[in-house]
Amino acid sequence: ARLVVLVSGSGSNLQALLDACADPGYGAEVVAVGADRGDIEGLARAERSGVPTFVLRVADAASREQWDDDLARTVGDHHPDLVVLAGFMKLVGPAFLAAHGGRTVNTHPALSPSFPGMQGPADALDYGVKVTGCTLFVVDAGVDTGPIVAQAAVPVEPDDDVASLHERIKVAERAMLVEAVGRMAREGFAVEGRKVRLGPPSR
Ligand code: GRF
Repeated sequence: ARLVVLVSGSGSNLQALLDACADPGYGAEVVAVGADRGDIEGLARAERSGVPTFVLRVADAASREQWDDDLARTVGDHHPDLVVLAGFMKLVGPAFLAAHGGRTVNTHPALSPSFPGMQGPADALDYGVKVTGCTLFVVDAGVDTGPIVAQAAVPVEPDDDVASLHERIKVAERAMLVEAVGRMAREGFAVEGRKVRLGPPSR
C-alpha cells in the first residue's frame, strides 16, 4: 500500500512508520511526506530515508480553501492508498475530504471521545483521569471525531506533567500506529457507519 504522511513537527510517528516500512513484509511504503511548514525534523527524517517531500504553507495560499485544494491535489499526485496525519497540526477541509476522505487517518493523543483538540495530554491531566491514551481514527469533518480504528490505554502517573505524560502516550501511539496501519495496508479496511472493519471488502 502507498502511504502519504503529513507532519508538522518532530515526526517520531513518521519515523516509526518509515522503520516499519523497511521490512517488505510490512506491506506498505511511504511514497511522500508533506508538511504545512518548513524546517521541521519530520521533513528531515523523510529526506534521510530518501522519501520525496513537499511543503504547503497556509500563508502562501490565496485562501484557506485554496490551501485545502492544493493539499488535496498534491497528496493525490502521489496516488496514496492511505493518507496518515501524524502530528499534522491543521484541520483538512472539504476539498481534501472529498478527494481523500475514507482513506485518511489521524492519530490523537487521548482516548476519544474524551479530550479532542490540540491539548489532549494537558486536558487529561487537568481533568484528573487516571487512564488516558491514544486513538487512531478515520478523519471526518469534525475535530478528532471520526470512526475509531484503534486505541491504546496509558496510565497517568501521580508526578506527571504534560511533557512526561505526552512522552508516555507517544510511545503507545507509535506502536498503535505501526500495528494498525500495517493491518489496514495488508488486510484492507472499510468504514461502516461509526465502525471501522479491518479485512477485505465484504460483498
Ligand atoms: C503526537 O502525539 C500526535 O498525536 C500529536 O502530536 C504528536 C506528534 O508527534 N498531535 P510526532 O511529530 O510524530 O513526534
